[in-house]
Amino acid sequence: MQHFKSHLHDEAGTAALGAALSRALLPGMAIYLHGDLGAGKTALTRALLHAAGHVGPVKSPTYTLSEPYRVKVDGKPANVVHFDLYRMGSPEEFLDAGFREDFNGENVCIVEWPEKADGVLPPPDLHVFLTVAGSGRDVELQPSSALGTSCLQRLQFAPNL
Ligand SMILES: Nc1ncnc2c1ncn2[C@@H]1O[C@H](COP(=O)(O)OP(=O)(O)O)[C@@H](O)[C@H]1O
Ligand SMILES: [Mg+2]
Repeated sequence: MQHFKSHLHDEAGTAALGAALSRALLPGMAIYLHGDLGAGKTALTRALLHAAGHVGPVKSPTYTLSEPYRVKVDGKPANVVHFDLYRMGSPEEFLDAGFREDFNGENVCIVEWPEKADGVLPPPDLHVFLTVAGSGRDVELQPSSALGTSCLQRLQFAPNL
């Protein structure tokens, strides 16, 4: 599958996609989440992390910019690092914080507002585009590497139409 598009009628739909994505994840993946404030980037990440075994709250790391979670990816213990770069002042901040080291080929890195780290952020394996559509959301998954393509091939998601 080169491309995946769907409509998510409500928050439960977003949660179902997050869970499905969690089961399809592969170690070392970087995922960029695109979409306006309120599009559902954090909601999707929260469902993904819960399905991956995290117990407890998942908030957007608006002030800390990144939050690591110890979960399971492809059945094995792994770190998922959730970034929210909305409040990052400059790409240098990303480098100074040592965030590049999180992209180590083993961690899964999920990035909200990747454009804030333009030029310093490692390239993604998968793009996720979320847009408000009526009272729901349109979603598009676009792989940009062999790893991302493998992930999409593993994805099993049947939307509730
Ligand atoms: N498919 C959906 N349809 C309608 N509302 C949704 C859907 N998915 C998520 N939401 C709602 O939209 C908001 C998304 O907020 P959030 O995930 O914090 O957005 P972002 O991280 O993109 O700024 C939440 O209030 C959530 O309940
Ligand atoms: Mg968010």
